Amino acid sequence: MKAIYITRRETFNAAHRLRREDWSDAKNDDVFGKCSNKNWHGHNFELFVTVKGAPSQETGFVMNLKELGTIIKSSVIEKIDHKNINLDVDFMKGIMSSTENLAIGIWDEIKELIDAKGGELVKIKLIETENNFVEYFGGKEPF
Ligand code: NI
Repeated sequence: MKAIYITRRETFNAAHRLRREDWSDAKNDDVFGKCSNKNWHGHNFELFVTVKGAPSQETGFVMNLKELGTIIKSSVIEKIDHKNINLDVDFMKGIMSSTENLAIGIWDEIKELIDAKGGELVKIKLIETENNFVEYFGGKEPF
């Protein structure tokens, strides 16, 4: 199989707070910095979803990127865009709203839907700020 990797980019903005109520303000500030702000704050996230496959004989596509976009929008973007990750997002309930955990949550939301379309989800890249992003490969070691 001539495996090739395709990526769809989507964006959303959302509020969150990284804060443990069982810790003092000083410890929260120390560990989480500005992300521990009591009164919330937001980020403009960039999400990259990468799918592996072989180009179809018929279309030349691994997977229709428009279809991939629709899956991401209906399963992730609609649930999270302009929302509060800690309070509003079903798949993040009770979980620390770090970028790491959000990337894992997004993977779990879309993995089966993508695989059902013949692609194989291999990577979620989630950019939180200009300087910080995470990559998740389904818990496997990529390299
Ligand atoms: Ni933050």
